Order: sequence, then structure tokens, then C-alpha cells
Amino acid sequence: APLLIAALALGYLLGSIPFGLLLTRIAGEGDIRTIGSGNIGATNVLRTGRKGLAAATLLLDALKGTAAVLIAPLLAGGTPAAADLGLVAGLGAFLGHLYPVWLRFRGGKGVATFVGVLIAVSPLVALGFAVVWLAAAFGTRYSSVGGLAASAATPLLLWIAGPPKAALLFALLAAITWVKHLPNLKRLAAGTESKIGARGSKAP
Ligand code: G3P
Repeated sequence: APLLIAALALGYLLGSIPFGLLLTRIAGEGDIRTIGSGNIGATNVLRTGRKGLAAATLLLDALKGTAAVLIAPLLAGGTPAAADLGLVAGLGAFLGHLYPVWLRFRGGKGVATFVGVLIAVSPLVALGFAVVWLAAAFGTRYSSVGGLAASAATPLLLWIAGPPKAALLFALLAAITWVKHLPNLKRLAAGTESKIGARGSKAP
């Protein structure tokens, strides 16, 4: 149990680094939480018009999840518990991204970190995630629809192609992702969700 808690904490610390907030602030774009949807993720960073910053946010928010899964097993040094430590650290990273203590627990929506964790758990299913995301997001021009569709597909794909424990973990992560997207679901239903490429003005 101490190792599991250490893995969860390590993942949480990595996941709670709010790259979107930090990069936009360093780049002189002000507080990303006052722009567009107010979210700290890559989709909202893109609403500043800074494509490079958005790409860097996507990459780093994903990488922190990948890193958590790959680093945590080192705590157990190759014992059978090591794989479980990776999954627990992935959960920690996801929760850290969504609920960072540094931002009074108001973090991102989880899509980038979700796929980052997934890359380390099953590269094949991560590829499936990417295909579903691209089809749904570019089919509808809504980033949120991409994240919703791809996150829902992931536990199903893992059930077929991955370890059962991973399928269960990602069912939980997908459920949390959907709950975090409730404002997006409302905007989609109302027809007011912003499309990919649209600039954001002040957050509502
Ligand atoms: O990945 C986050 C995306 O699904 C929604 O972001 O800023 O449009 O709420 P946003």
C-alpha cells in the first residue's frame, strides 16, 4: 500500500502541472482562464490564435500522463506490483490535471492527459483513440465531440485489445471526462459550442 500511495502522489504531482496556464502566461497572453471556455487545455489555448502554444500544451499535458505511467513502476523495481503502480500513477496524473491543488482544484477536462496515459498503457489503443478523435472532431468541427467520442471508445477498445484492469481504469477516466464536459454538452445541445479554429474572446 505505501508504494501505491507513492505512485498516486507522484502521478498527481506530475498531472497537476498546468502547462496551458503556464505557457500562455509566459508567452504574454494573460490568464487563459479569462479566454474562451475558460479551460486550461490545448483546445482553449488555440482560441488565443497561438497554434504553437496550443500544440505545446497538448504535447506536455499528454506527456505528463505518459511519464507518470512509465516512471512509477521504478518505485517497485521490477516486482510483479510494478505494472499496477503504472496504472495507479496514471490515475493520479489524470486526477492531478483535473483537480490541481495549485488552482484550487479547478483544472482541465482531461482529454490530453487521458491519451498520454493511454499511450503508455497501450500504444495500439492510443492509435485507435487518435483515429476516433480525428474523425469525430474534424467531422463535427468540435474538439469536445472528439474528446467525448474517443474517451468513450477507449474502454471498449481496451476490453478487446488490452489488459482488463486497464479497461476498468479507462472506464472510470472516461466517465470523469464526460462529467467534466457537462458545460460542453449543454453548449452542444444549445448549438453554442465554439468550433475548432474560432477565436475566443473573454470567458462567459
Ligand atoms: O479537450 C478539451 C475539449 O474537449 C473541450 O475544451 O475549451 O472547448 O471546453 P473547451
